Amino acid sequence: MRLRVGITYNLKQDFLYTENQPIDFLEEFDSEETIEAIRNVLESDGHEVVKLGGDLGLIDRLRQTPIDIVFNIAEGLQGRNREAHIPALLEYLRIPYTGSDPLTLSLTLDKSMAKRVVMSEGIPTPRFMKVERMEDLRQLNLNYPLFVKLCYEGSSKGVRLDSKISNRRSLEEKAEWLLKTYGPPLLVEEFVSGPEFTVGILGNESPTVLGVMQIEIKGSPVEEAIYSVEVKREWEERVHYHCPPPVDVHLLREIEAVALRSYRLLDCRDVSRVDIRVDQNGTPHFLEINPLPGLSPVYGDLPIMAGRMGWDYARLIRTIFDHALKRNGLLGR
Ligand SMILES: Nc1ncnc2c1ncn2[C@@H]1O[C@H](COP(=O)(O)OP(=O)(O)OP(=O)(O)O)[C@@H](O)[C@H]1O
Ligand SMILES: [Mg+2]
Repeated sequence: MRLRVGITYNLKQDFLYTENQPIDFLEEFDSEETIEAIRNVLESDGHEVVKLGGDLGLIDRLRQTPIDIVFNIAEGLQGRNREAHIPALLEYLRIPYTGSDPLTLSLTLDKSMAKRVVMSEGIPTPRFMKVERMEDLRQLNLNYPLFVKLCYEGSSKGVRLDSKISNRRSLEEKAEWLLKTYGPPLLVEEFVSGPEFTVGILGNESPTVLGVMQIEIKGSPVEEAIYSVEVKREWEERVHYHCPPPVDVHLLREIEAVALRSYRLLDCRDVSRVDIRVDQNGTPHFLEINPLPGLSPVYGDLPIMAGRMGWDYARLIRTIFDHALKRNGLLGR
């Protein structure tokens, strides 16, 4: 059936970047190339596609143009609930959309909240402390080495090669810089020093693993490897992606289980990508989950993973879309 499909998104080019902002100020937003790639897939399947964007004009556009379903990749503009804003608006207007609902999007954007939920079911995740101001560090009760990142960000925003912290002095320096540059809150976590994996999951009633991809940072010993902004930007030179990864099948099953359990517990829908790191004892830890995983056809981790698993980009987009159609009773109508 031919549907009228809206795409909601926020583009890097819609924002003004000035030199006094940090290099990764716009890191979370998408490029026109990604929107066009998604549009091509939906159009080649016979749908009419309307690019809706994600600015305030969206409200009027949605009221003027009848839309059957929205393919949502909007990161949102501000605040802890920013990823939930457009889905909440769509829910209010009774327009179906791809991906998770506002509760899940907000819960997972705040990494500390997502960790509390997975911990409540016994899923291992690094011990942590949420830091609003420097004085909070007086209560620190965690073991070094630590890792310091922003509590409500993605795309490794705020994460640098020196985000692993081995002493009090560097902790204070790093926390001060992050608070000053990006604002609170921070998440201080115990550092997990083994190999890193990201797991793609698709589906609803019985979600399945699309793939497990190991992220190896070239030239870094595993206990120093950080998938930082610097590394993500130069991924072609600096990252080895292994998918499927060359690891023991028991470890692979455990990684998949942590990812699937987290996806279910956080009520994710249609698609997500779960980041996991293994500790010295071989236990996989939940780092975070991304219910709006980057879908760049060039550098998105999920599209790269799909490619390694023999799926072309169109199949990935179509599968996400079909899960949303099915969930909304629109498939084959
Ligand atoms: N506790 C930790 N121990 C070790 N490494 C960590 C830890 N937390 C984060 N990292 C490293 O920092 C990277 C970025 O952290 P994380 O995935 O939490 O942030 P993100 O910016 O939300 O990522 P994404 O780009 O997937 O949205 C991880 O991929 C990992 O390399
Ligand atoms: Mg991540």
